[in-house]
Amino acid sequence: MIITQEQIAHFKTLKTPFYFYDIQLLEKTLSFAQSEAKKYGYILHYAMKANVNDKVLASVQKHGFGADCVSGNEVQKAIDAGFPADEVVFAGVGKSDDEILTALSHDIFCFNCESVQEIEVINELAAQEGKTAKIAVRINPDVSANTHHHISTGLKENKFGVNMSEMDSVLEVIAASANIKLVGIHFHIGSQITDLSSYKNLCVRVNQIQEWFATRHVSLEFLNVGGGLGIDYYNPETNDIADFKEYFAIFNEFLKLQPGQKLHFELGRSMVAQCSSLITRVLYVKEGATVNFLILDAGMTELIRPMLYQAYHKINNLTATANEIETYDVVGPICESTDTFAKALELPKSKRKDIIEIKSAGAYGEVMASNYNLKTLHPAVYSDEVGVAV
Ligand code: LLP
Repeated sequence: MIITQEQIAHFKTLKTPFYFYDIQLLEKTLSFAQSEAKKYGYILHYAMKANVNDKVLASVQKHGFGADCVSGNEVQKAIDAGFPADEVVFAGVGKSDDEILTALSHDIFCFNCESVQEIEVINELAAQEGKTAKIAVRINPDVSANTHHHISTGLKENKFGVNMSEMDSVLEVIAASANIKLVGIHFHIGSQITDLSSYKNLCVRVNQIQEWFATRHVSLEFLNVGGGLGIDYYNPETNDIADFKEYFAIFNEFLKLQPGQKLHFELGRSMVAQCSSLITRVLYVKEGATVNFLILDAGMTELIRPMLYQAYHKINNLTATANEIETYDVVGPICESTDTFAKALELPKSKRKDIIEIKSAGAYGEVMASNYNLKTLHPAVYSDEVGVAV
């Protein structure tokens, strides 16, 4: 995503910080993902947790995605945004009774279940409502995602999924549950996965697990391999769409589907990350004892990824006029030392009121914002509205 001079001129008239969305890039990304998936008949769900901005959801929904939800409110939001209920999946290790009832009331496609006790509770609540709940068991495949340990989910020490050693007892519970129908199995090994060989390893493991089910004559309508495809945070201008072609080709090459079996995906970050930047202003340039600080009006309250996962986001000064380069620690205004976007970053010499862009912030950005310190995040701005007469 490249911000135009016209957009910068518009930003100068607005209060900061705010998220700017490039709707054209979003739509290009969604179309490309769908066209690559369709080559193999794969079914895509959008992981709502990445971004629930209404305009973003409207584009995603229009491009024929189902929804992957992790709370009752996300299920409700997906339905309200027009996602068909029979394309909604509901995952998460801790679904409350109310959330399960919300999902049952909409007759969603499937619950991705993560423990024996959860299956028992869904069965009880489905019986109470006179419904049959379709479930997929989330299996912990013990496959490494080679990603940051905070966003790795498929290792046996992680809280997610059921281990294969427990699967016989899970099948017994399902067999004894009159209001549960097992329709699939589910996996998700982690997020921001850029080493695609992790997916090959997942396929090999899923093939073994499929054989385990086959020997027990359990048939599965579908497999769901979750999401996690990473994006290029380092070169967002030149590499703005994830490698969907290679990603789906890996599953086509290495995953053995049973006749008639469907393959589902739940992608979040790769759909939306590159289509948004956090736009913020320089409040002050401060000479510290050892470093210079560029103090912005956005902080961890608007984008927490750098502070929480030591995540890199490319930072540009959109209004700098000097050729001189300076080194800054780029920080937010929040009363915590951890409120730092980048250390020792080289930028064109910057001044008060310069407009700064923090890139690749469309996934887990706006949606993870908080009102800590009662900070104000101003309304988002959309590329298809800038320069368009109203
Ligand atoms: N399916 C399940 C079961 C998940 O837990 C997740 C993400 C996804 C799908 C979507 O994964 P994606 O395609 O977006 O990688 N806040 C962190 C990321 C947390 C991811 C949680 N689960 C971050 O900012 O990096």
